[in-house]
Amino acid sequence: MRTFFLIAAFRLLSLGVTSASSCKCTPSDSCYPTQDEWSSFSQNLSQPLITNQRPLGASCYQNSTDYDSTACSVATANQYSEDFRAASSNALIWVNFEALITNDSIQACPVTPESGGTCNQGRVPVYSVNATTVEDIQNTIEFAQQYNLRLVVKNTGHELGGRAFGSEALELYVHYFQGIDFVDTFVPEGCSSSDCSWTAITVEAGAQWGDAYTTAQQNNRSIAGGFVPYGSVGAGAGWSLGGGHSPLSPFYGLGVDNVLQYTVVLPNASYVTVNAVQNTDLFWAMRGGGGPSFGVTTSVTYKTHPNLPITGAFYEASVNSTDAYLELLELWVSYHNRVADAGWAGSWPFVADTGLYLTLITLGAPPNQTANETLQGFFDESAEIPGVNVTLGLTVQYPDFYEWYYDNLVDSSMGYGLNYTAGLLAGVNIVGSSWLVPRDVFDSNGTALATALANLTSASPLYVLVGGGAVAEVDPDSAAVTPAFRRTISDIETFLTFETDNTTTAATFQQQMTEVHDQYAPLRELAPAPYGGQYYNEPDLLETDWQIAFWGSHYDRLLAIKQEIDPNDLLLVRKGVNSEGWDDELLCKED
Ligand SMILES: Cc1cc2nc3c(=O)[nH]c(=O)nc-3n(C[C@H](O)[C@H](O)[C@H](O)COP(=O)(O)OP(=O)(O)OC[C@H]3O[C@@H](n4cnc5c(N)ncnc54)[C@H](O)[C@@H]3O)c2cc1C
Ligand SMILES: *[C@@H]1O[C@H](CO)[C@@H](O)[C@H](O)[C@H]1NC(C)=O
Ligand SMILES: *[C@@H]1O[C@H](CO)[C@@H](O)[C@H](O)[C@H]1NC(C)=O
Ligand SMILES: *[C@@H]1O[C@H](CO)[C@@H](O)[C@H](O)[C@H]1NC(C)=O
Ligand SMILES: *[C@@H]1O[C@H](CO)[C@@H](O)[C@H](O)[C@H]1NC(C)=O
Ligand SMILES: *[C@@H]1O[C@H](CO)[C@@H](O)[C@H](O)[C@H]1NC(C)=O
Ligand SMILES: *[C@@H]1O[C@H](CO)[C@@H](O)[C@H](O)[C@H]1NC(C)=O
Ligand SMILES: *[C@@H]1O[C@H](CO)[C@@H](O)[C@H](O)[C@H]1NC(C)=O
Ligand SMILES: *[C@@H]1O[C@H](CO)[C@@H](O)[C@H](O)[C@H]1NC(C)=O
Ligand SMILES: *[C@@H]1O[C@H](CO)[C@@H](O)[C@H](O)[C@H]1NC(C)=O
Ligand SMILES: *[C@@H]1O[C@H](CO)[C@@H](O)[C@H](O)[C@H]1NC(C)=O
Ligand SMILES: *[C@@H]1O[C@H](CO)[C@@H](O)[C@H](O)[C@H]1NC(C)=O
Ligand SMILES: *[C@@H]1O[C@H](CO)[C@@H](O)[C@H](O)[C@H]1NC(C)=O
Repeated sequence: MRTFFLIAAFRLLSLGVTSASSCKCTPSDSCYPTQDEWSSFSQNLSQPLITNQRPLGASCYQNSTDYDSTACSVATANQYSEDFRAASSNALIWVNFEALITNDSIQACPVTPESGGTCNQGRVPVYSVNATTVEDIQNTIEFAQQYNLRLVVKNTGHELGGRAFGSEALELYVHYFQGIDFVDTFVPEGCSSSDCSWTAITVEAGAQWGDAYTTAQQNNRSIAGGFVPYGSVGAGAGWSLGGGHSPLSPFYGLGVDNVLQYTVVLPNASYVTVNAVQNTDLFWAMRGGGGPSFGVTTSVTYKTHPNLPITGAFYEASVNSTDAYLELLELWVSYHNRVADAGWAGSWPFVADTGLYLTLITLGAPPNQTANETLQGFFDESAEIPGVNVTLGLTVQYPDFYEWYYDNLVDSSMGYGLNYTAGLLAGVNIVGSSWLVPRDVFDSNGTALATALANLTSASPLYVLVGGGAVAEVDPDSAAVTPAFRRTISDIETFLTFETDNTTTAATFQQQMTEVHDQYAPLRELAPAPYGGQYYNEPDLLETDWQIAFWGSHYDRLLAIKQEIDPNDLLLVRKGVNSEGWDDELLCKED
């Protein structure tokens, strides 16, 4: 009773003169469903509603009613597994998004409790629908609309801004939509012209890249999908809704350029097919407008491509001084566009004052002469810089993309290349940022850019060369994704991961976020939005003008479509379309 009063009073204060109706219904409100209402909702679902969902670590708290030593052993053994977290409705890949972190408190539930610690619910939804049918999604949307609940959609939970969970929200968990279907002649619904038949793959919302790659390989085709350890990022949801980039993008386009069709449940609970000939506004908006702002996707169909041989190139160089480091970065920046134009894609992380690592691919084995000579030119020239030690400069021929993916992202025991699988852990905290730096900046402001890159010191960097080529040839206004992507070759993305211990405070998170954000200041200055921009799927939570950073000139049209399709603000996410004015947990609109 007392708690209810305090929360209500706080709400009124924070709302000022506006009515409480601009808040979602939460457990302390009389509009929240009763136990009976939850029960009858549960009976409408294909399998029972998950009630009283607790965080992954809850079973490890010895003095609590959640304590369960068997469940705790499972949680402890799997807490760093991406696949385990993707397949758990009560966990995300990154633990800080499970926690409720305000400016002065952290409410979390570490799998390894401190003595005397309690497991806090944080942002883990208490109610979760483990959906397996379209009707489950429709019922859930109707129920959430009826009771004005906050609704969140969780797939793998890889997302980098905490958008798949939310305090006091109802969760729609779509992971068990696992179907993958290869279709020799796919015709988008309603398309009658002669040129609309494609060799395609349809993936349901919960399918993951590793499985999509396997299916493509079995059919001797390739697909432009994510560059992801163990293939664990989702293929059918957040990736393409936010844009979707791939090491094959320079050859075949962004994820959104490869989408032929979506099936989606809209905020009014209707189930529709969206493609280039029907629901065309939605087709434009969903290709880059961000999940789940326009509806809950149940499947996406992608074009497939010939399964060509691939050449991988691996380069590692270390430096003995800051000067050598800067000179190496300057040389790489000066080569960057030429290397891309010669047909190379991939990643180029560098580690502050340590060195540069290239993991690149090109179509064709052996690669064409221009590709070989351009990249070899960089290898050779870099070795001439005093203090630069080129320790690896290797090319490896692969029969197809799948073998390259397997060697680099599933089993990196060969000991060269990005070693992504060894370097990136799930079950830790993450703070990230990204910036799309247009190609011209590499030519016109190379020295300033190299200096700005050298300033990114605090995080695990992962700069991906995923643009140019086919990405640049697409009409920038053909999909919602920011036009900046069309000008950009490399997405400069950075992730700082860290574990929490008893010294971590809310201020620690603020400091880390601020540090990463500030380190990007010179990049923003070199390529201000909307000329440059930020990748919606790699958000910087401190970005202020995020509308322009994520979408540039496309934001106004996105907002208009959003307001029409979701007039009750059912599907809102942090820094998503039409989230202006809402608090950080999207529970109350503040103005
Ligand atoms: C290790 C790692 C590697 C990555 N590599 C790449 C890469 O190579 N290229 C790239 O472009 N991106 C990459 N990303 C970013 C990735 O695209 C995003 O994290 C993406 O949002 C993940 O989508 P998901 O559906 O798997 O995850 P989730 O976190 O479950 O969902 C992501 C967002 O989509 C929403 N959503 C989930 N399901 C649905 C649905 N059915 N309908 C509508 N909305 C839904 C969620 O609410 C959330 O907002 C990477 C991320 C990580 C952590
Ligand atoms: C259950 O489904 C029926 C039919 O779709 C609907 O009329 C009813 O409102 C639903 N009840 C709940 C509690 O969701
Ligand atoms: C939290 O701290 C940040 C940075 O110090 C500040 O900008 C913000 O206004 C604070 N938020 C609240 C709710 O106090
Ligand atoms: C459990 O409770 C007892 C008694 O209050 C306390 O001594 C002990 O430290 C607690 N154990 C844990 C793991 O919190
Ligand atoms: C969700 O549903 C799937 C498919 O029926 C099932 O295997 C899984 O155990 C369920 N998970 C939970 C947490 O209920
Ligand atoms: C090599 O490939 C690049 C990129 O596709 C192309 O521009 C170039 O013309 C090719 N060169 C030769 C010699 O085939
Ligand atoms: C270029 O070709 C030569 C000769 O085959 C080979 O030794 C070298 O590794 C290649 N370099 C690159 C970067 O492709
Ligand atoms: C780095 O190596 C260069 C070339 O070998 C050498 O001239 C220089 O003194 C070295 N610098 C440091 C700081 O070791
Ligand atoms: C370059 O690195 C290799 C491997 O680490 C090392 O053996 C070699 O001595 C280094 N060379 C120089 C000039 O530092
Ligand atoms: C990459 O991983 C392999 C095995 O997992 C390891 O032997 C090797 O040292 C790693 N290389 C780097 C550069 O981290
Ligand atoms: C923090 O943890 C460390 C090691 O786990 C321990 O030695 C220390 O006593 C703890 N400090 C507090 C204040 O709990
Ligand atoms: C470098 O990063 C720091 C934060 O670490 C930031 O304050 C500064 O503005 C950045 N830019 C330059 C050019 O140093
Ligand atoms: C980038 O280069 C242009 C012309 O080369 C120059 O006018 C501009 O000031 C530079 N921008 C920055 C931020 O250095």
